[in-house]
Amino acid sequence: MSILKRATDGIAVNILGIVTKSHDTGLALLQNGAPAYILEEERFNRQKHTLEFPTQCLDALFADSGLTFDDIDVLTTPWEMDRLRPTFYNNVTGKLPGSLNLLRPGAHRVQASAIVNLPLRLWLGLGKRYGYRKVPKIVQVSHHNAHAAVFNVSPFEEAAVLVMDGYGDDTSTSGYIGQGTKLERVWQSHFFDSLGMLYTCVTEYLGFKVFEEGTVMALAACGGPTYVDKMRDLIELRPDGQFRINRDYISFDTHGLVRPFKWKFYETFGPPRSRKDPLTDHHRDMAHALQTVIEETILHIVRDMEKRQSSRNLVISGGVGLNCVANARILRDTKFERVWVPPCASDTGAPLGSALWHWHQTLGNPRTFEMTHAFYGKGFTDAEIKAALDKAGLTYQKFEEADLLKKVAKDLSEQKIVGWFQGRAEMGPRALGNRSILSDARDNKIKDLINAKIKHREAFRPFAPVVLLERSKEFFEVTQPDPFMTLAPRIHPDKLALIPAAAHVDGTGRIQTIERSANPRYYGVIEEYAKITGIPVILNTSFNRQEPVVNSPEQAISCFHRTDMDVLVMGDYYTTDRNPAAVKHARESFVSVPAAGSE
Ligand SMILES: [Fe+2]
Repeated sequence: MSILKRATDGIAVNILGIVTKSHDTGLALLQNGAPAYILEEERFNRQKHTLEFPTQCLDALFADSGLTFDDIDVLTTPWEMDRLRPTFYNNVTGKLPGSLNLLRPGAHRVQASAIVNLPLRLWLGLGKRYGYRKVPKIVQVSHHNAHAAVFNVSPFEEAAVLVMDGYGDDTSTSGYIGQGTKLERVWQSHFFDSLGMLYTCVTEYLGFKVFEEGTVMALAACGGPTYVDKMRDLIELRPDGQFRINRDYISFDTHGLVRPFKWKFYETFGPPRSRKDPLTDHHRDMAHALQTVIEETILHIVRDMEKRQSSRNLVISGGVGLNCVANARILRDTKFERVWVPPCASDTGAPLGSALWHWHQTLGNPRTFEMTHAFYGKGFTDAEIKAALDKAGLTYQKFEEADLLKKVAKDLSEQKIVGWFQGRAEMGPRALGNRSILSDARDNKIKDLINAKIKHREAFRPFAPVVLLERSKEFFEVTQPDPFMTLAPRIHPDKLALIPAAAHVDGTGRIQTIERSANPRYYGVIEEYAKITGIPVILNTSFNRQEPVVNSPEQAISCFHRTDMDVLVMGDYYTTDRNPAAVKHARESFVSVPAAGSE
């Protein structure tokens, strides 16, 4: 029976989007156009941004869904060899002999060069597990098409779609127009005119690692305008939304991350910082200049997109879409009235995007699904949670939901720090309320305490406030919901004193708005907290410490004991037990796996 016939007969069509050899490997199962599972391998193998084949994701998918590999109708992957391979070969041979450096392993540390054989790698990996003859043909979807395809699960029937990342298979920035099921690329940049790549290179110049771009974004708010004019010389804004990165300064088009900058960059901005050097005003000002110039370039692109179509809705995808400061500026400074960024804007969403593209663009199915939450990851039963607590030798209490919410709200109001593990894990890089550390937003000391004692990270790093949607405008300069923590609006000046820990140094907050329907238990805690304090805002940060976000109850217990959290809540279970034997075991048994791409 054909796939379309099956769909119209009400039989589930299972499309499995899957990726390996690129950072953030994982999979997504799309059933009749709706996501059922979105799993990232890093959550299982504990290597941040892992490039490994998503073996454990596959095991979890088939164990939890009850499906077998035979039930998969179509396999998709978010890279297209017909575009990727010519780009790769042209780049390597384009500026000989220097461009041969692009073949060196360090040239693109977060992506193995084996990605040019991605379909073969997938066939081998899947064939070994399930039988080579059983592997269906792998449908390749252009990387930016896959990012753009999240338009199909956005709230909009019509929208402009902007994709920005490090590299796709043929471009690094592209613009689409989405109307109903139709999604058309109307604009793209040159491959090496990459805002994502520039951000990554300056991040490394500032002594941080690849994937720590968010830290530089936070640092930018601490800096001043010293280098802004000089940084503007790095990006030339051209007509029709185009821009060009000045090759007098950068050499990532020939050397990748092995040697991303030319001498002129160091002459202009000075030597790079090593990770152990102290952060100075120079570094803060550099971060500020970078963020400013990136924002200006994004606004330049977006203003061109305004002219191309009449819709005032904008969807942003790709890793640069995680820049919540730039996203907020788009809403403030352009004609777009709504901005939607999925919770998996980075490559964590690429497998889903490849499946969505196939379902809607290739098979022509209408849109039937809107993404309103991010909880498509791994879940655990009550019995599994209880077994993990018992195995760790902890004492605990089990509560009815209403009592649990009141208890946790009271803890938060007393400035206790709560590890909060509920339901299915969020997909994407942000903890959004099921694998979160929750705390009081009313005292600035909390922020320092969490940075120093829980997360072990820089003091300037901000925390994300989560606010009940219906009271969000009271505290923040917002005009729309933001359930996925993708905007950093200003906090109303008269509210700053009420929630000082939620404010970054520039007076903004990277908010998450929460509706009861999206996550009743998470909403319920904040609602109860608001009854005690009058404040409908708490702090939310990801449940981890120098590791991927916790996935299982065992990992949550380990993180609880390796940090100075006061309370751990998992499902209906509540514990404060930090008995010395369990704490010792957690600290001694923890193995920190270096992130993919780190040196
Ligand atoms: Fe990407």
